[in-house]
Amino acid sequence: MALVLEHEQIASSVFRLLVKDSGNPKPGQFYMLGASGEGMDPFLKRPLSVHDANGDEVEFVYQIVGRGTKMLSEIQTGEQPALEMFGPLGRGFEFADENSAFIGGGVGVVPLYYAIKEFKRNFGKKAVAYLGFSGETFLVDRFKAVCDEVIVNVGGYITDYVDREFVQYYTCGPDPMMEAVAKLLPDGAKGYVSLEKRMGCGVGACFACSVRVDGKMQRVCKDGPVFLAKEVF
Ligand code: FES
Repeated sequence: MALVLEHEQIASSVFRLLVKDSGNPKPGQFYMLGASGEGMDPFLKRPLSVHDANGDEVEFVYQIVGRGTKMLSEIQTGEQPALEMFGPLGRGFEFADENSAFIGGGVGVVPLYYAIKEFKRNFGKKAVAYLGFSGETFLVDRFKAVCDEVIVNVGGYITDYVDREFVQYYTCGPDPMMEAVAKLLPDGAKGYVSLEKRMGCGVGACFACSVRVDGKMQRVCKDGPVFLAKEVF
């Protein structure tokens, strides 16, 4: 049974969910979450990346994109037999002691917040967030609290604003945006992409999330979701 501490709508069809959990996830990892119970389909678990975590709490921000996330959005705070979740899962980001760019599009910005927090906690280097949205923005003030600089674009291409001087970057969002980032930065820059794919089991057993990485089929849930950018694009 999961204890839901907070659950609120923060933008149109975007929700923030805070759950008691002591799994100590790493930035870039995810959990499988779903609503179960009478009238609810237990097979509609969805992978949600970690937005923030501390000791005994983990926070998610997600967008309603289908039946599974719609049912999730109806979950109330308190002791919740209706919330099923397991994790943390997958491989997260690896950081380096370099000034770093964090580039997100839409709900792809979500895991970058925890990544920046942990990066800044471990290294003294600069973190710049580039956040792209197609319409309504969300989480921008949170990023401002942890970054050296935050650049926001609405309705355009956030990649147009990324400083080409960075040699270390992290990106999550639509595939075309991540591909554009990978091609834009100079040779020798090291980048990590966090892939978002539909998943079944979340633990490497069903191959529903397979993608070609560096010429081999890899499972986003188990071998990723974070991969080296040059191996994906
Ligand atoms: Fe089953 Fe990735 S979701 S192998």
